[in-house]
Amino acid sequence: MSVAALLADARVCVIGGSGGVGKTTTSAAIAAGMAARGLRVAVVTIDPAQRLATALGLDELDNEPRRIEPERFDAVGLPLGDGELWAMTLDPKRTFDELIEKLAPDDATREQILANRVYRELSDAIAGSQEFTAVAKVHELTQEGGWDLLVLDTPPSRNALDFLDAPDRLSAFFDGRALQTLLRGGGAGLRLIGRGTGLVLGLLKRVTGAELLSDLSDFFRLLGGLIGGFRERAAQVEALLRAPSTQFLLVTSPEREPIEEAIFFQRRLRAAHMRLGGAIVNRVHADELGGEDGGLTDLSVVLERDAGLSPPLAARVAAAFADEHALARRDAANVIQLAERLGHGVPLLQVPLLDGDVHDVEGLVRLQAQLFGPPRGR
Ligand SMILES: Nc1ncnc2c1ncn2[C@@H]1O[C@H](COP(=O)(O)OP(=O)(O)OP(=O)(O)O)[C@@H](O)[C@H]1O
Ligand SMILES: [Mg+2]
Repeated sequence: MSVAALLADARVCVIGGSGGVGKTTTSAAIAAGMAARGLRVAVVTIDPAQRLATALGLDELDNEPRRIEPERFDAVGLPLGDGELWAMTLDPKRTFDELIEKLAPDDATREQILANRVYRELSDAIAGSQEFTAVAKVHELTQEGGWDLLVLDTPPSRNALDFLDAPDRLSAFFDGRALQTLLRGGGAGLRLIGRGTGLVLGLLKRVTGAELLSDLSDFFRLLGGLIGGFRERAAQVEALLRAPSTQFLLVTSPEREPIEEAIFFQRRLRAAHMRLGGAIVNRVHADELGGEDGGLTDLSVVLERDAGLSPPLAARVAAAFADEHALARRDAANVIQLAERLGHGVPLLQVPLLDGDVHDVEGLVRLQAQLFGPPRGR
């Protein structure tokens, strides 16, 4: 099974999964692979470390998609032909401000909101939970038209499900519920608006006394006018996530914890009526020795006899193989378990642990080859 088949009818592909499993790299590799199949693709990543920018040979990505020079891929054996690859790194705070700018009825209101200190403090915290702004950006790109496929990376997050809860958090922000709960001093308020635990303190330190009161009342008045527009936008964004042309792909490593999270994620997607197109198990240890354990005991003998290694070296090499073999067997068992728990309807792709990090275009193309299989016609 190839990613190309999974995404045959997709216009939007959301890459989810727990932290550090390879979402950003996979997003870029998938986007490149689809561009090589003649599509006009944009990949939106959320990668504060700018790893993707580095991988694509751009020093910095900005808040609008930028076209990647096709020569970069040509040079490493992945001609894009008529396809186009565009990439951007989401700037959550800027995207959020842009959203406000679009929703504001006039320039004066817009300026007042953006300058309001309560807004600034809170929007930082909201932008810190980047999920909604990311989907809002993708929604905006779909409205622009011209894209065959949008690939959305999701933020580094301890909880991959934040993504699905984000629209609710944002709605709470807009109708002032978050702030009201916050001011009542409830811990629930803090949870509601995300991870900004120092938020109240920060807010009170910066905006005090009478100023706080007037800023607060301005805040509610100004944002009150935007609620309708925001609700509409949030509904469109949710509809986008549920559209038949939107596919979620789940990335996981073959370890226990990310697998548990993947299963949980699938349940949540299902409950939210969103489509899981498939799962990608990334960084799977390859089994150099095949499935048989019997080969191991003889390996050092063979290495001594046939490869002419000294006995201690032969033993060390054999031990290294044995370690790899044990990891490979663990991975294989975990993958089988994952497949069973996801159910037959969910295609599962395995990507081996590649030598070295995937930090350049060449690495992306190697990953792409694993995800898409051998080029057709060869
Ligand atoms: N198949 C692979 N083989 C070897 N290295 C890989 C592979 N896939 C990803 N990596 C490396 O693993 C690291 C983590 O990848 P990546 O940044 O894409 O993960 P992520 O899920 O986006 O992380 P975060 O949750 O922090 O955003 C990177 O250094 C990347 O180069
Ligand atoms: Mg990432």
